[in-house]
This record gives sequence, C-alpha cells and structure tokens, in this order.
Amino acid sequence: MAAQTMPETAPPSLPHWEQTPADLPDAIRQVKAALRARIAASGRTVEDVFAVVERQVSAEVEEIAAARRRGETIWPVIDYADIEAGTVTARARDLLRRRGCLVVRGHFDREQALGWDQDIIDYVESNRFFQNYRGPGDDFFGSVGSRPEIYPIYWSPAQMQARQSDRMARVQAFLNRQWKHESGGVQWFDPGRDSLYPDRIRRRPPGADSAGLGAHLDPGTLDLWMTEASQQAFRHLFDGSVEEYDPWDAAWRTTGPQYPGSTMCSAFRTFQGWTALSDMNCDQGVLHTVPIPGAMAYLLLRPLLPDVPDDDMCGVTVSQVFPASQKWHPLLVHALAGIPDVRAGDSVWWHCDMIHSVAPVTSQQGWGNVMYIPAAPWCPRNERYAASVRDAFVTGSSPADFPAEHYERTWPNRFQPHQLNRTGRRGLGLS
Ligand SMILES: [Fe+2]
Repeated sequence: MAAQTMPETAPPSLPHWEQTPADLPDAIRQVKAALRARIAASGRTVEDVFAVVERQVSAEVEEIAAARRRGETIWPVIDYADIEAGTVTARARDLLRRRGCLVVRGHFDREQALGWDQDIIDYVESNRFFQNYRGPGDDFFGSVGSRPEIYPIYWSPAQMQARQSDRMARVQAFLNRQWKHESGGVQWFDPGRDSLYPDRIRRRPPGADSAGLGAHLDPGTLDLWMTEASQQAFRHLFDGSVEEYDPWDAAWRTTGPQYPGSTMCSAFRTFQGWTALSDMNCDQGVLHTVPIPGAMAYLLLRPLLPDVPDDDMCGVTVSQVFPASQKWHPLLVHALAGIPDVRAGDSVWWHCDMIHSVAPVTSQQGWGNVMYIPAAPWCPRNERYAASVRDAFVTGSSPADFPAEHYERTWPNRFQPHQLNRTGRRGLGLS
C-alpha cells in the first residue's frame, strides 16, 4: 500500500458487513456516520473533500467537452497490430489511462468475427434455443430502464475460441498492465493470466427498437461502502487523503466479496469489454461511458453530503445495478461519450469502475452483435470464482453470477474440455 497521510491518532474504524446487512437502512445510517467521522478525524470535512473531487472531475469533464468541440474522438483507438508488436506509443497509453476506455481496431480479422457470429446462430438454432426460450431470467436492470437483447449462452465454441485465443490474451495482458498490480510486497493479480470470465452474447437485429440501458456501473452496490476489502480499496476516499486516491491501484480490490444478486460480478475485472461480431455505426444504439476513471471518488462520496437522506446512498441498493442519475450525478452524466463506429472484430474496453449506458435506437440499421469478454486477471478473488466456473463449464450450466437458466446443459455441440488450449486450461485453473 502507498503511505497514507495519517493524523497523529488512528482514525475511527468503520463498521463493516461481509454479507448483505439484514437491515439495510440501519447499516447505511451507521456506515455514513462512521465515514463522516473518519473523514472529520483527518481535520477536513466531507464538504472539503468532496469539493476537491468535484474540482478534479469538473476539469476532466471540461477537457472532454473541449475535445468534443475540436471534433476529436473521445474514445482512444489503438490498433491491435501495435499491441502485438509492442509499439503502442506513450501518448496513446497516456490517453488510455486518462480516459479509461479503448477501442482495439482489428483485434480479430473481420471474417473471423463474422464467422463466429454465424457459428453462434448455428449453435443456438441447432439446439432449438428460440423455441425453448423462457424470457429474461433476471430483473437486474430494473432500476435503469429496459434491457438490450441478451442470449444467456456461455459455452459456444465461438465464445470459448475467442476467450482462449492468443490475440485475446495479448490484449488483456496489455490492459491489465495499465494497473498497479503490486504494492507493499503483495502481488494483487497476475497481469499475464486471465480467468476466462464467462459472460453472455447480445444480438440485436436490424429494425430493432430499443430503449437502451440507463447509466450505471458494475463493480458493486452497497458493498462498495460496506465490506472491509472495499473500504481498504477506497481508503483514500474515506480517510480524508483523497488526493492520493488512484483508480488504477488494484490493492484490496482482488480479495473481497460482492453482495449477491441475480446478476452480479464475483470477479475482479480490470476492464469490462466486448468484441464486435457485426459492424456498428456510432448512432445505432451503442455503448457510452463517462470516460473518467476517477469518477468513482465522486460516486462514493456524494451520498455523504447533507442533502442526501441518512438512510439513502443516492439510490444504490442491493440486487439492483448501481445507477448514475441526473438527480445525484448531473456533472458526470453530462460527460457520457459514445464509441466511434466499430467493425466486426474490433473490441471495446472500459475501466471496471466507469459509468456506462447503451443509447436508445429506433429501427436500428444493421446488426448490433457482441460477445462480452472482459479482462479478469488471475487473483484470489478470481481463483475462487474459477472453481465454480469449471463446474459450470463441464456441465454446460449458467455460471454462478448469472440467472440459473442452464439452457446449454443438454446441448451436445457446446465447447468440450478436450478443446481447451493452454490459455484455456490456465484460465479455468486446470493447469
Ligand atoms: Fe454494465
């Protein structure tokens, strides 16, 4: 850990709940009072600390607005060929770290990606998925509007080939290395080994109308304030040393739990990501992010201001995605920036803390198809989850983080254990 600016006596400790508290309003009241007291012990008020964060975030928002006025693309773009050759410039890396998001151009050959898209169609159709589909298995996005068209399919040959490919491993390692993964004598994660976090597929057909997906973030809910590991990970926000907060420091992020929900993420992901399986134009209901990795400081401190009721965390609760809202976070929501046009085979990445949304679209032109493949490096937290992933893989079950739909258990042509390569075996903890 980095050295902390400590007052002369140790600051008050924080109550913590390693499992979802039984009485949520009471736990919120307790932790808010304790967080305020801890910040006050540093000699600063919550308002002082929040003002620092607000100034930092405002400067970022203004910088993004200025770049927009200059006609620049907000999302950084790096060619896969430069990642493979190790020729990504320092300038490109700086922009990636400032914005926290990236499009990797030509991550896979376009023909390869289009082939995978067709393979997925063949896979689900050969197993009569559409005839047997029982509707959405979760209401995780209930608090932020309607959902895009998601297939709860995890084990197609196409997905597994992409997950265990050398090209995927190279990009994940490059992204993981943007993080500080060692400190205080601890290696928090292994940047060169991914845990193959299995996720779903989205296929949105031409002509589709979609209300999109409201602005939200994925790294947790009330656990972000309430578990011991999270309180450590965000220690600088909670002890008055906010200037030292580093959104790229993995310390304590790779150990602790997330409170359960019907769709959650047990894994630590350095970046969320997906790989495009169709060409998509930037005005066709695409992904947006608030490209400010440090905005988490704003999100976690905002509920401590006096205008938020004592038993409210700006609308965050368990089993519902963490909403970013016009009501509590207008400064942030204002900075939402969409991806540029992408082609099949490009991949899209964003820092795990970042607010994101999917824009609405009417009568979509072209397909909107992606497979979700994040960067989830090997660490204690991901090793624990990998044990249940192994079982799900062998039996064709839905992974434990997702609704228990289990469509693929009886599908004979799902990806088989003997098809794993070395990356696949390491990712599942089999070698
Ligand atoms: Fe999300």
